[in-house]
Amino acid sequence: MVAQRVREIEISGIRRMFEGAPPGAINLGLGEPDFDPPKAVVEALVAAVKNGLNHYGPSAGLPALREKLAERYRAIDPDVDRENVIVTAGGSEGLMSTALALYDPGSEVLVPDPGFVLYAPHARIAGAVPVPYHLREPNRFLPDLDELEGLVTPRTRAMVVNSPSNPTGGVFPRAVVDRLLAFADRHDLTVVSDEVYDEMVYEGRHVSFWGKGDRVVLVNSFSKMFAMTGWRLGFLLAPRPLAAEINKVHYHMVACPSTPAQTAVLVGLDTVHETAGAMLAEFRARRSMVLQALGRMPGLHCVPPAGAFYAFPRFRWPTTAYAVAGDLLKRGLITTPGDAFGAAGAKHLRLSFAASRAHLRQGLGILGEYARETGR
Ligand SMILES: Cc1ncc(COP(=O)(O)O)c(C=O)c1O
Repeated sequence: MVAQRVREIEISGIRRMFEGAPPGAINLGLGEPDFDPPKAVVEALVAAVKNGLNHYGPSAGLPALREKLAERYRAIDPDVDRENVIVTAGGSEGLMSTALALYDPGSEVLVPDPGFVLYAPHARIAGAVPVPYHLREPNRFLPDLDELEGLVTPRTRAMVVNSPSNPTGGVFPRAVVDRLLAFADRHDLTVVSDEVYDEMVYEGRHVSFWGKGDRVVLVNSFSKMFAMTGWRLGFLLAPRPLAAEINKVHYHMVACPSTPAQTAVLVGLDTVHETAGAMLAEFRARRSMVLQALGRMPGLHCVPPAGAFYAFPRFRWPTTAYAVAGDLLKRGLITTPGDAFGAAGAKHLRLSFAASRAHLRQGLGILGEYARETGR
């Protein structure tokens, strides 16, 4: 018999969709850029492997990379240094190590609903209780402070935030970030801020939670900024004493991050804005395509995503997101049902625009036909 904590974990709704897809289906369920990593970074990886950098490194990451990553945040925090930084096996491991280092059995953790699929299961694996707070479409998917105040109990330990957000595309403006930090101060909560889409903003600009006070763990990743989801490399920033504690868990999870991959990303970090900027320009064009097409479809309404690369339209049809996504799947289109991200996503679909324009056109054609047949 397996442990209770494992029995409670469901297979992600995203995975289930993929498994039922007919051959040749158009995939708008993707959560990764359809680009290659920068050429110089790929070449640096190959060179690292050929030159014998194939061994364990320090568990918190190569000092030179930790230093470089600290530099990235120095403009918003002059005191940040490499002791604040841990290089992780992707944002996923950074989130898991943070959860295991922070949450006690019985702790409560505020998690966004809809929100990325790892936050609630990570809390459960750590023995904690995820408490959803809502990101609603009429509020442009921003958190409601009054609701948050009502959810806090003496057991609340942390709050997970994600801006730019997967799946909503919401980006928190400065005033919202400041209010959430003040809220965390009032209730002595740690803020776990997932900022893996920080380079992908179309409206306004990214405001990091890092840099004010000492209660933030920032999780980031090279997966999206360098289009290298398969390399499994990310990083986190934490106040120094907490970073040392998270590093203990991290060591037991992965021993150390990949040495050749770290060597390679060091080469790309100076030009990360150019790399991400080129992707962003293409995503911006596709975003317009998607919004225009959705705007013409009966029964669907979409708040333009301010960041990341997902549209999260709401449908008015009297059915569930799983049923709609299932019908679309039969017609050859993979989407992600909104409730894969929490109950508040129940009337939404997530469409990724990290797919070629040709595939987007075809996919939107299928969705448009379905919408016209289903009506308002
Ligand atoms: C919001 C968010 N956080 C974290 C991750 C984890 O990414 P990785 O583990 O590849 O860094 C993802 C991946 O889709 C994501 O969308």
